[in-house]
Amino acid sequence: MTELAATFQQEAVAEAYQHRPPYPDEVFDRLEALITDEPRRVLDIGAGEGAIARPLAPRVEHVDAIDFSAPMIEAGRQRPGGDQPNITWQVNPIETAELDGPYALVTAGASIHWMPWEETFARIVPHLTPNAQLVVIEHGPVDMPWWDGVMQAIQRHSRKKNHDPKYNVVEAIRDRGLLELGGTARTAPVTYHQKVTDYIEQFHSTSSLARDLMTPEEAADFDAMVEEAVRPYAKDGVLELKIEAELSWGRPLA
Ligand SMILES: C[S@@+](CC[C@H](N)C(=O)[O-])C[C@H]1O[C@@H](n2cnc3c(N)ncnc32)[C@H](O)[C@@H]1O
Repeated sequence: MTELAATFQQEAVAEAYQHRPPYPDEVFDRLEALITDEPRRVLDIGAGEGAIARPLAPRVEHVDAIDFSAPMIEAGRQRPGGDQPNITWQVNPIETAELDGPYALVTAGASIHWMPWEETFARIVPHLTPNAQLVVIEHGPVDMPWWDGVMQAIQRHSRKKNHDPKYNVVEAIRDRGLLELGGTARTAPVTYHQKVTDYIEQFHSTSSLARDLMTPEEAADFDAMVEEAVRPYAKDGVLELKIEAELSWGRPLA
């Protein structure tokens, strides 16, 4: 896991990240509704290039966006909304980050499974407002008729060989006694059109399919397999995706 998490330090992963689809707007409506305390300061852990932090910033007082990857944070600064004055970017592991709370909300978009939970929660819990919630957010395309073909490409080339589709990170954290689960929600699907080339490229922003982990021949084989799988469904080189997000929130315990 540690070796795979290190792939986020690679420039090519940060570069490919821009091709991941954005989170649906409903995610940010729901995050805003989960803030009940003042000040409306947010801590975004494993912020990456700010897919959560940048759209959330106009809705809150301040966002501290923390990630241990300098290339990801640099990409975030450059992306639209990355220069908002109420975002503070910080390159640090969350376990030892400098925190400037109290925070009324902690967000973890596709990131908490990478973190050492005990150390992370011990670090953040003392900096929370009385009703602050931790929200774990995952998102991605659903109902893809081409998925079997893409799965074959992933199974051939992914560096993560022990993937368990039934594993639920929020339940695992709760079972460790670190989260008092408050609720879960799934957003309504939104339509997102994406060029086939960008759809293929976003796979290389994942830790297990990073280009630097593959030979150029392997990467070309992966790309060709995905292209072949999606080709019958593309119109003028563009795919129609249905994006959904899932949010789980609760009170983090140290
Ligand atoms: C899949 S990305 C998610 C980025 C962003 N939150 C999003 O939703 O698009 C996971 C991020 O977690 C970061 N990360 C992993 N472990 C971390 C840790 N211990 N402290 C800080 N960041 C960490 C990685 O560098 C990476 O940028």
